[in-house]
Amino acid sequence: MTHSRNDPAPPALMIDTSRIGGRERYQLLTSLVVPRPIGWLSTRSGAGVPNLAPFSYFAALSATPMLVGISIGSRGGIPKDSLLNIRDIGGFCVNIVTERQLTAMNDSAGEHGPEVDEFDVAGLPMAEAERVGAPYVENCPAVFECRLFKEVELGGTANTLVIGEVLAVRLHPELHFAPGTHLVDPEALRPVGRLGGEFYAPLGPVLRIPRSVVP
Ligand SMILES: Cc1cc2nc3c(=O)[nH]c(=O)nc-3n(C[C@H](O)[C@H](O)[C@H](O)COP(=O)(O)O)c2cc1C
Repeated sequence: MTHSRNDPAPPALMIDTSRIGGRERYQLLTSLVVPRPIGWLSTRSGAGVPNLAPFSYFAALSATPMLVGISIGSRGGIPKDSLLNIRDIGGFCVNIVTERQLTAMNDSAGEHGPEVDEFDVAGLPMAEAERVGAPYVENCPAVFECRLFKEVELGGTANTLVIGEVLAVRLHPELHFAPGTHLVDPEALRPVGRLGGEFYAPLGPVLRIPRSVVP
């Protein structure tokens, strides 16, 4: 996409986001803010039914307090089960999706009613978190145990940003830190990012770029 100085650059396609539909805004946003990590939320309903669903509107927000954010949509104006459960229980687990969990993650994303246990649907082993009243995916290499910190209504088509405070991080012993740090080795973690639509991005070559030091 380079042009010589004499050659005028072709005009950019300018899209006024107020003049396109919600579907198109969603497609632009989710195919350009990429790759996104996938927070696989495990919760339990007030009636005791375990729930599991992936969310790629998922981000690290702060280290102290240690906060993560997940934006949860609604179905026909009714919040998704994950949000209802988080409100019931006041907490949730975020299972980090890696290459090994990709198919099961997709199997757990079906739009089921609150009576359906997606651990069962996806054939996944379940265990109980220590710090919150929620289950987690037992064979997931990294799990955050979170208490509900804050909910922020985002308006429009009723997305709710759920902010969770990470009370504990559960790491599989196969993972390891870079010496003298708590930086988890990405080659051992093998994370997968979500691209637009049905596309995913496994880990490519890992580049190390030391910060430049101002003399
Ligand atoms: C990879 C992936 C990422 C997703 N990300 C989101 C998201 O960020 N927000 C959302 O509301 N739904 C998202 N979904 C859809 C939910 O997972 C789906 O609606 C699920 O059935 C919700 O389950 P629940 O009703 O048990 O909470 C995603 C689906 C997939 C496959």
